[in-house]
Amino acid sequence: MRAVLLALCLVGALASAALAQTLFSPTQDPLAGSRVFGARGCVKCHAVNGVGGKIGPDLGKLQRPRSFYDLAAALWNHAPRMADRMRSLGIQRPTLDAREAGDLVAFLFTLDYFDPRGDVDAGRRLFGEKRCIVCHQVGGTGGVVGPNLDALRQYASPIYLAAQMWNHGPRMATVMKSKNIPRPTFKDSELRDLITYVGSASPVIAQGPLYVLPGVAGRGRTVFAQKRCIECHSAAGQGGEVGPDLAERSINLSQMQFASAMWNKTPAMLDAMRSRAIPVPQLQPDEMADIVAYLYSVRYFAAGGDPKKGVAVANAKGCLSCHALRGERGKPAGDLAAAKNLESPAAILAALWDHSFIQDPRPARAKPPWAEIGADEMADLVAFLQSLRREP
Ligand code: HEC
Ligand code: HEC
Ligand code: HEC
Ligand code: HEC
Repeated sequence: MRAVLLALCLVGALASAALAQTLFSPTQDPLAGSRVFGARGCVKCHAVNGVGGKIGPDLGKLQRPRSFYDLAAALWNHAPRMADRMRSLGIQRPTLDAREAGDLVAFLFTLDYFDPRGDVDAGRRLFGEKRCIVCHQVGGTGGVVGPNLDALRQYASPIYLAAQMWNHGPRMATVMKSKNIPRPTFKDSELRDLITYVGSASPVIAQGPLYVLPGVAGRGRTVFAQKRCIECHSAAGQGGEVGPDLAERSINLSQMQFASAMWNKTPAMLDAMRSRAIPVPQLQPDEMADIVAYLYSVRYFAAGGDPKKGVAVANAKGCLSCHALRGERGKPAGDLAAAKNLESPAAILAALWDHSFIQDPRPARAKPPWAEIGADEMADLVAFLQSLRREP
């Protein structure tokens, strides 16, 4: 209990530093991640879209919306059962380092593990109903007023899409007006369905890691200022009031839904920019990715954790029955405040994953059952662990 109180005080002082937390990991290479998936034996038990082992669930076919924290929680919760299976199958202990965990997340990310798959038929219908087909060709049918969209298939990341639709938005709007086509908006899963359709109809074969993955929150903060978003939006306590404050919104948006939201709000934003003589900024996909990461860190999305709640989670889940926190003596595992591998959520994910193979050092009578952790709790826990790292 003393440890918890002590940690709470520390966290209070560190809460603002924790806002600047980075997302995921320094490297996010899905191709490398697919190799990790093979080399670390995941593929012996898990298929991806039908190819691979059948002992665990097919990771390409899970339909629920996912965040990084859902994944971290799923891995933690399944760890003892996975570890048992591994032992009985004689699969080597597949430990992960931070880079491997980050790459693995990137790989799963590109498999739509995080964004549920769209519906091809609904997408085909929408492509007609929203009149995209009047101006765009896909798989050989459609108009030629706008560019052919076949190439979108290899860039099927929501963030890439958000950036492209933003950059081309003003010109598209002008052409639509000249053709008397109302500017479409997207709700629910419409944009995702459209893109799934484009991917299925396009003859272009995806090659190489062209996906745009979540960026770096620190860089996103800079982009947010440079592109003058901050003149209309405040986030983390400073900025203009023309548009909504983007911090602490806790909206439960997938990245594809974020892409829709940006598109839907574009006309209002363009008007606001025009009347203030702010030039419409062009956003490179990696800049959009950094903005998304930044918005994660200021809790525009629901996924950000609360380090204060994270202390309570660490206590409730028994972390503190093995780990010391700031120098207490007599604990069987290392001091969390001195842990080396807390630089990113991916590093923390790697450290947690490795617990499946730790010999529980506690005496038999003190061993509680493996504590399940929910996605929200995981977000709080990661925020807490990251706040420890920032202590000088
Ligand atoms: C020895 C077999 C085995 C290996 C090796 C294995 N898993 Fe699993 N995994 C399972 C089983 C079985 C489950 C389901 C457990 C359950 O339902 O409680 C599972 C569940 C999961 C889930 C949760 C799925 C969900 O419901 O969202 C994820 C994610 C996952 N594994 C990822 C991995 C990754 C990544 C690796 C490699 C680092 C890996 N697994 C290695 C057997 C394995
Ligand atoms: C009235 C014609 C018109 C309609 C309708 C239209 N677009 Fe466009 N679109 C364009 C034009 C013109 C461009 C190129 C704009 C530019 O050069 O900046 C474009 C560009 C794009 C781009 C960027 C392409 C690239 O190569 O990066 C995407 C993505 C896109 N449109 C998707 C859509 C979708 C999805 C729909 C339907 C919801 C749609 N468009 C409806 C005219 C249209
Ligand atoms: C000139 C003012 C202005 C600038 C600059 C601006 N926005 Fe906006 N933004 C708005 C307004 C106004 C709205 C609300 C539109 C509405 O709700 O109809 C908005 C809405 C949004 C929303 C949706 C908010 C929600 O949850 O409903 C997001 C996300 C957003 N802007 C992001 C950005 C980003 C990122 C930038 C910089 C690239 C930016 N904005 C630049 C004025 C601006
Ligand atoms: C059964 C005892 C036990 C429990 C319970 C436990 N750990 Fe650990 N943990 C260990 C051991 C042993 C290590 C290996 C290195 C060490 O001694 O710190 C470790 C390593 C770590 C590391 C990496 C340390 C570093 O220096 O890189 C982190 C982070 C961590 N644990 C966090 C947690 C969290 C968060 C929880 C609660 C969800 C938890 N642990 C629960 C025993 C435990």
